Amino acid sequence: MSDNRIYIFDTTLRDGEQVPGCKLNTKQKVELALALEKLGVDIIEAGFPISSPGDFQSVEEIAKAVGDVVVCGLSRSVEKDIKTAAEALKYAKRPRIHTGIGTSESHIKYKFRTTPEKIIERAVAAVKYAKSFVEDVEFYAEDAGRTDNEYLARVIQAVVDAGATVLNIPDTTGYCLPEEYGAKIRFLKENVKGIHKAILSTHCHNDLGLATANSIAGIQNGARQIECTINGIGERAGNTSLEEVVMIMRQHAHLNFQTQINTPKLQGISNLVSEKMGMPVQPNKAIVGANAFAHSSGIHQDGVIKKRETYEIINPLDVGVDHSKIVLTARSGRAAIAYRAKQIGYNLTKIDLDKVYSNFLTVADKKKEVNDDDLAGIIAAKTSLVQASC
Ligand code: KIV
Ligand code: ZN
Repeated sequence: MSDNRIYIFDTTLRDGEQVPGCKLNTKQKVELALALEKLGVDIIEAGFPISSPGDFQSVEEIAKAVGDVVVCGLSRSVEKDIKTAAEALKYAKRPRIHTGIGTSESHIKYKFRTTPEKIIERAVAAVKYAKSFVEDVEFYAEDAGRTDNEYLARVIQAVVDAGATVLNIPDTTGYCLPEEYGAKIRFLKENVKGIHKAILSTHCHNDLGLATANSIAGIQNGARQIECTINGIGERAGNTSLEEVVMIMRQHAHLNFQTQINTPKLQGISNLVSEKMGMPVQPNKAIVGANAFAHSSGIHQDGVIKKRETYEIINPLDVGVDHSKIVLTARSGRAAIAYRAKQIGYNLTKIDLDKVYSNFLTVADKKKEVNDDDLAGIIAAKTSLVQASC
């Protein structure tokens, strides 16, 4: 396996499903898990089995339904949680228990009201207990983003020695700057003995809009797993968006990172998650938003019509979008009108175009968007052209 292979850990069904109003039932979760498997994710975090009987059942059913993908269940560093996660994962071909504890000063002092040493003891005990059920144990140091690096390295050293196979370094509150987060990953790589035996993982939240940048900084500094969700959904401002990190790696091939994501399935799965969770995608969302490949100003439209690459860095087909959109608005120019007219069956001469254009602007100033019927109406009123069948 190439040293630059990046594992995609999808947590849409766990962190993503924590969004208020996005709760899914078991049937919906299984359907999404099968779609995630087809997309090519390496790990599906299927849920938090101790949290409710419904979530337990979902993890169990997903474990039965999918094939070779790793199925992961979340737990706190609590024996009952870990045992329940192991039970829910009993049908998984490749089970993983994800256990962990808060490591930042504020979590230790105010959430656990304990000492840094006791946190390390609990972390080690949790990893050892999880190892008694499964080989693959991922440890998360919650709020690692705000945890002092020296102390974090001590926690990580202890769990590596206890047998953790994956080390999750979450920026739980989305606080870190990319440089800071990258340096944190590098610090662990350089200061934890035997860390090469495990995989370092990023898990970044988007409170400052930096989740994607931080995840990329993480892999540039040695992490080899990215935790992310479809459409970037998740607690508060959400998690790292799967489609963004995957397309960054694809479009910047010089970085030499590889995933096994089947990118033409991205738009479809984005729509499916949005529909099942009743969570609309913002139109300007990178990669999968409705406007990600739409052009509405005359200058851009003219460029895209001449050569798509002038204003698009991604071929829409690569993410499952049929074609770029030329949207007619009051900012559109003659090139866009002639282009759309041709698409709906009218070949406008330069004289026809001049006649249509001024009328078009009057309509466009009144409407947000001039649709195909409006355009056909304007052409019929201003020219003697007949619509060709198209
Ligand atoms: O954000 C976080 O720290 C988490 C952990 C439970 C992995 O979601
Ligand atoms: Zn999280």
